[in-house]
Amino acid sequence: MKVRSEKSSPTKKKTALLCTFVYERSKSVAGLNKIDSKLGGLLKASLKETEGKIGTLNIIHTQNKIPAQRVLLAGLGEKEKINHDTIRTVSGKIAQKVRELGISEYAIFIPPDFGLDIIPSIKAIVEGSELALYSFDKYKKEKNKKSPDLSILIEHSGNIEDTIKRTQKICQSVIFTRDIANLPPNDCPPEQLAKFAKLLASQFKLKCTVISKNEIRQKGCGGIAAVGGGSKNEPKLIILEYNGKRGERPVVVVGKAVTFDTGGISIKPSEKMDEMKFDKCGGCAVLGIMRTISALNLPVNVVGIIPAVENMPGGEAYRPGDIIKLYNGKTAEILNTDAEGRLILADALAYGKKNYSPKCIIDFATLTGACIVALGANVAGIIGNDDKLISKIKQAAEKTDEQVWQLPIDDDYMEMIKSEVADIKNTGGGKGAGTITGAAFLAHSVDNVPWVHFDIAGTAWTQQGTKEKSYNPKGATGYGVRLLTEFLSNS
Ligand code: BES
Ligand code: MN
Ligand code: ZN
Repeated sequence: MKVRSEKSSPTKKKTALLCTFVYERSKSVAGLNKIDSKLGGLLKASLKETEGKIGTLNIIHTQNKIPAQRVLLAGLGEKEKINHDTIRTVSGKIAQKVRELGISEYAIFIPPDFGLDIIPSIKAIVEGSELALYSFDKYKKEKNKKSPDLSILIEHSGNIEDTIKRTQKICQSVIFTRDIANLPPNDCPPEQLAKFAKLLASQFKLKCTVISKNEIRQKGCGGIAAVGGGSKNEPKLIILEYNGKRGERPVVVVGKAVTFDTGGISIKPSEKMDEMKFDKCGGCAVLGIMRTISALNLPVNVVGIIPAVENMPGGEAYRPGDIIKLYNGKTAEILNTDAEGRLILADALAYGKKNYSPKCIIDFATLTGACIVALGANVAGIIGNDDKLISKIKQAAEKTDEQVWQLPIDDDYMEMIKSEVADIKNTGGGKGAGTITGAAFLAHSVDNVPWVHFDIAGTAWTQQGTKEKSYNPKGATGYGVRLLTEFLSNS
C-alpha cells in the first residue's frame, strides 16, 4: 500500500474517510473540535455511543459540511492501558474496514496531544495497516482487492517519511515470509526453498550457498541426512550471507524448515496434520530477516542457515532405535522420529558455530507442541545461555510487541536427554518439560557461544482459541522478522 505523511489540517483534508483515535470516556475528539462544530456536535454525540471502547469503529457521514466525506472514530480503550500494540491492532482494524467499504484512499489524523511516543506510533500504524490487509490468495481465482492509499496527518518535526519507508520495507519482508510459509507442501519442497533463497540473493546483497544431499552426508550432517532420508524430495542446507560491516564476527541465525512434518515412522494422527505445512516457518523467518537487513543496509554481518527437509515415512526413512552421528560429533539415539526438528537444527547450529565463528547464534523453530500448551499463540518460548543476549532479545520483543517468555535450562534438564546407548537421545522420554528438553538437545551444538532459541510453534501461525490480532490474518504470521530486525538494528 502507499503510505505518506502530510502536515495538512484535518479540517481541510479532502478524503473519503478521515480516521482518528479516541480514548474511553473522552469528552471530545482531540484536535477535531472545529470539525465537530461544523458537524453540529455529531462527533461528540457518537462518542457517547461507543464510549471509545477498544476496537470500536464509528463512522459519521459529514454531508459535505467538511471536505472529508466521512469521519471514523476508532476506540483505543482506557488511556492508562494503551500501548503501541493497541495502535497496531486498531490501525489494522481500520484498514480492514476501509477494504470492506471499497474505498481507495483514507487518512489517519494523529491529534497533537497523543499519549504515546510519535515515531513508534507511526511505525505501529504502518505495520498494523500493511499486515492486516494481507491475505494468501495465490491459489484463488478471486484475488485480493488492491490495498488503499493511506495519508497520515500529523504536526511533527521528526523524520516521519523515513520511519514510514523503513517500516514498509520491514513489512514487505514479513509479507514475503508469510507468502512462502503459507505455500502448501506439494509446492514447497526443500528444493523450492533453496530456489527462493537464490532468487533473494540475486535481488538483494546476499550470497547464497546450497548444499545438497550427498554433500550434506559427506560433511557429517547426520541429523539432516537422517530426517531428510525418507522423502523423495531431497534435503538441502541453505546458507545466506550478508556483509554490512567489515571485520566483525557475524550473528548466525538458524531456522527450522521442515517443509512437511508427517512425524515420519512415528507418524502423527491425521487430525490437523495439514497444519504441519507450517513446520517450515522458522526457515521462512530467516529468509525474511535476511531480506530486511539487506533492504535496510544494516551495518552488521549475518549468516542465515536453513536446514530444509521433508519428514516422511518410507523405505529409506530413519527409525526409532537408530543411532545417528551429528555434525557436532555427538551420537544421538532416535526415540521418536517426530522429534526431527532438533536433529536438523543440531547440525545447522554446529555448522554455523564451526564455520563462521559467530559472536552469537539465534534460532527459530516450530519445535514443540508443548510450547503451545504452555504459552498459546501470541508468546514465543525463549531459552538461552547468555543473560546479556537474552535481555537484548527481550528488549527487541518489547519494542515490536512480538512477545517472548523465557524458560529455564540447567543441568537437571540436560540430564533428561542423556541416552544409555548414545551420547544423547532425541526426546526427554517422559511427558514433562518438552520445550526445554528440545532446547537442551540444541544446547549440545552451541556450547559456550551466546545463544537464544525461539520456540515459535505457537506464534508462527494463527491458532484457534487464542486472542486474535487484526494484523495477523489467518495462516502464517511471519513472527520473528520484525523482532530480529529490531535486534540487529541495535547490535
Ligand atoms: N513440528 C512439531 C511441533 C509442533 C507440533 C508444532 C504441533 C506445532 C504444532 C515437532 O516436530 C514435533 O512433532 N514435536 C513433538 C516432539 C515430541 C515427539 C518429543 C511434539 O511436540 O509432540
Ligand atoms: Mn515432528
Ligand atoms: Zn516438526
